[in-house]
Amino acid sequence: MIPNKSYIKRRQQLALNMKKGIAIIPTSPERVRNRDCNYPYRFDSYFYYLTGFNEPDAVFVMMVGDNIHATKTILFCQDKDIEQEIWKGFRYGPESAKEVFSIDEAYPISILDEVLPKLLAGQSRIYYSLGHDATWDLRLTGWLNQVRDQSRSGISTPPEIYDYRMLIDEMRLLKSTEEIQLMRHAAKISSRAHCRAMQVMRPGMKEYEIEAEFLHEFRKHGSEAPAYTPIVAGGANACVLHYINNNMELKSGDLVLIDAGCELNGYAADITRTFPINGKFSPVQKDVYQLVLSAQSAAISNVKPGNSWDMPHTAALQVLVQGFIDMGLCQGNVDSVIESEGYKQFYMHRTGHWLGLDVHDAGEYKQNGKWRLFDLGMALTVEPGCYIRPAENVPEHFWNIGIRIEDDVIVTTNGCEVLTASAPRSVNEIEELMQ
Ligand code: GLY
Ligand code: MN
Ligand code: MN
Repeated sequence: MIPNKSYIKRRQQLALNMKKGIAIIPTSPERVRNRDCNYPYRFDSYFYYLTGFNEPDAVFVMMVGDNIHATKTILFCQDKDIEQEIWKGFRYGPESAKEVFSIDEAYPISILDEVLPKLLAGQSRIYYSLGHDATWDLRLTGWLNQVRDQSRSGISTPPEIYDYRMLIDEMRLLKSTEEIQLMRHAAKISSRAHCRAMQVMRPGMKEYEIEAEFLHEFRKHGSEAPAYTPIVAGGANACVLHYINNNMELKSGDLVLIDAGCELNGYAADITRTFPINGKFSPVQKDVYQLVLSAQSAAISNVKPGNSWDMPHTAALQVLVQGFIDMGLCQGNVDSVIESEGYKQFYMHRTGHWLGLDVHDAGEYKQNGKWRLFDLGMALTVEPGCYIRPAENVPEHFWNIGIRIEDDVIVTTNGCEVLTASAPRSVNEIEELMQ
């Protein structure tokens, strides 16, 4: 768990990054799945990053004055309600939330519409994620209009709205020791699940049976949920990048591509492994697999402080394109194939993304028009792939091979730590484990 003092530090850091003004940060609403059944609740990552509070129906407000000592934190949350708690479970209620989460003031969410116009009056700037949720946008507009209606009494309406995500993204990008610890744990649980999948895999199973193994491993080891819908894609399905039906038979002679990672205390792991359903790579499968693996090693060795975000991608691309040419999938030389983007027939996504509370985590990839440089504590995935759909210009023995190898790394002093290294990657390791 992230200790309370770390949340306090984050709020102080945000206050330092803000100018005088008021930040209004609602958590996510509960979502209906069908009729009167909700999806399992997942808080908003920005709200949670600042509070550690995981109940729905809550808003965090921070008012920053002329200096950091004039900062006030306020939590609006569900009131205690014995009747509701009998049906839906424990709630902190404002009084104890204030103590437990070290917030200056806490009030029932039911008085939000009454209080917010008062808090907004006379503020010079609002920090708010305009456009993220239309319901909240409308509510904020209503509060602002109430303030505006009082202009003849000399009350001024905040003239500026600034997106707080711009400020918090920069903080979320650099993971603390505690966050890294959690991410290591999420990665370990997810790696074990991939090992388990390799061990139980038998031709004739259905993709969903393997998905079930992941859900079992995740929950058994304390993860609250998958960090995203798992992909278990046998044979040609691996060439559908966001395949999630997971309802087909896994056939001997095909590969299976599995992209699955768990969420632990809000932090995501994101791993892909691709392996032969019958436990043994065919020669052509092995060739393409080794190519993707070499591309991944080239990419991983380019993740280090001072290198730019684009360097791992460029390194992976060089290796992949040379391989595509050698295998007769692309014609020309590396530069010309990259220039013409001919490789995109087989590799159409980029080589990674930031990772953290969200699987595609917060953080800008460019700054002032230039790719950002890696720095200590940044967390990202490295996930080159190769997806060969049937086509006239492709020899038939390559058809329907889809491979991705995806690992999670943290930038360290000398390079990076691979959090997901315990999920086998080499041909030998995989074939051995599957025996
Ligand atoms: N699982 C989502 C991704 O790999 O980006
Ligand atoms: Mn990913
Ligand atoms: Mn993934």
